[in-house]
Amino acid sequence: MAQLVPVETFDLIIFGGTGDLAMRKLLPALYHRDCDGQITDDSRIIAASRGAMTRKKYLAQVEASLRQKLVDGTFDEAHWQKFKKRIFYAQTNAFESSTWGELTKLLAGNDDRVRVAYLATAPSLFGAIADGMKSNGLITNTSRIVLEKPVGRDLESAREINDAVGKCFAENQIYRIDHYLGKETVQNLLALRFGNSLFEPLWRRSAIDHVQITVAEDLGVGGRVEFYNSVGAIRDMVQNHLLQLVCLFAMEPPSSLDQNAVRDEKIKVLRALKPVSVDDARANTVRGQYSEGSIKGSTVPGFLDELAGKESKTETFVALKVEIENWRWSGVPFYLRTGKRLKAKHSEIVVQFQDVPHSIFPEQQYNVSPNLLRIKLQPDEGVQLTVMAKEPGPGGFDLRPVSLDLSFAETFGVRYPDAYERLLMEVLRGNPALFMRRDEVEAAWQWIDGIINSWQASKQKVESYVAGTWGPTGSSVLLDRDGRSWHQDD
Ligand code: BG6
Repeated sequence: MAQLVPVETFDLIIFGGTGDLAMRKLLPALYHRDCDGQITDDSRIIAASRGAMTRKKYLAQVEASLRQKLVDGTFDEAHWQKFKKRIFYAQTNAFESSTWGELTKLLAGNDDRVRVAYLATAPSLFGAIADGMKSNGLITNTSRIVLEKPVGRDLESAREINDAVGKCFAENQIYRIDHYLGKETVQNLLALRFGNSLFEPLWRRSAIDHVQITVAEDLGVGGRVEFYNSVGAIRDMVQNHLLQLVCLFAMEPPSSLDQNAVRDEKIKVLRALKPVSVDDARANTVRGQYSEGSIKGSTVPGFLDELAGKESKTETFVALKVEIENWRWSGVPFYLRTGKRLKAKHSEIVVQFQDVPHSIFPEQQYNVSPNLLRIKLQPDEGVQLTVMAKEPGPGGFDLRPVSLDLSFAETFGVRYPDAYERLLMEVLRGNPALFMRRDEVEAAWQWIDGIINSWQASKQKVESYVAGTWGPTGSSVLLDRDGRSWHQDD
């Protein structure tokens, strides 16, 4: 395990402190970092939320949530007694400056600490909260603001939010989160590409046939059905997580891990994505929506049942064939797919290398399949390289694909920290490399808006798929047509 150094003393204000993200991700992440000694004794976590609540009641909620969310019995009574001392609650309504008194009082006299405002709220509140911080004199030189995704629902709204927050905070104080960038395995993609000289000569059109990126979930939309219905998979997953994976996979080598070196390379990929015209949308995109089915032996309802029978054309599944128009990737299709209520939670990038140019093996006996590099993101994180080998025996020359398998869990034998643990520490250290810059978010929206507009113009249909499968038929057809298929262990 890399050496852990405590971060400077801080005040972290979580707007939306009673919400799902705070309870499910942020507080458990902070608890783990605290257990590992990364948080100084006098650092504080201040939950800000609209409702009136005593600190005692808030602590009871946090305790109940930690007991439930922390995996593998990591809740420790003695440590909780220490952790809870740093948690405070301040009733704050973003839109009413008269309600900011409690928070202002808590922060008074602490201007020398690192101060982070984490906006775990709806994006419609981002501007008002930034403004409230400013008008109440709460922004110091060491202040930072963290914006949860989604930053907007299209380019226009993203710009509005960025402008509103930008009136109060400088760009280098703004941290736009995409939690995929905090995942250990996603960072391992950088290690794989740039910590090994082996792959670089192969990382291009001359060696790669195509790339598949799958982010599949077996869960449905849960309690977020109304919200999800207004965004769909393209905005919820593709605009951010999948495009970030594409960027890290496809970018040119940055000169260092410096925040701008990496982000400058990522944005070049976003700008090289081929815009999706109406014809492209018909040919190269698939939308799906789950119907009732069965997952791990249990019957699960369809999306429309969850919407209580309301009509909806929102996609819970997307598959895309994407082209990157530059020298490295021209002609190499990137097939992306993501969806809810699929067969399993399973995310990976599969690189299929080109066929051998000529086979020397006898027609009847050989079966040379192309090499595959699987970068497994979750679960069972690791890297797998499939190579052809000869089956043992004197009879003939039968070939079989065999795998060189690296399982990170077995190799490193440590708990994988949640992405938020890493990202929160990066904010507190003042390192924005793993966060999205304004131009990145906006370039991503610009490309996604093109797809959504083409869908609207062509009235692109939403295919139904049975929950517990790998998505609609159109998703397989997308690859079949190119003589390819999704690599998945059915
Ligand atoms: C979120 C999406 O950003 O990512 C959710 O809003 C999705 O819909 C989640 O379930 C997936 O994250 P992870 O870390 O479980 O892959």
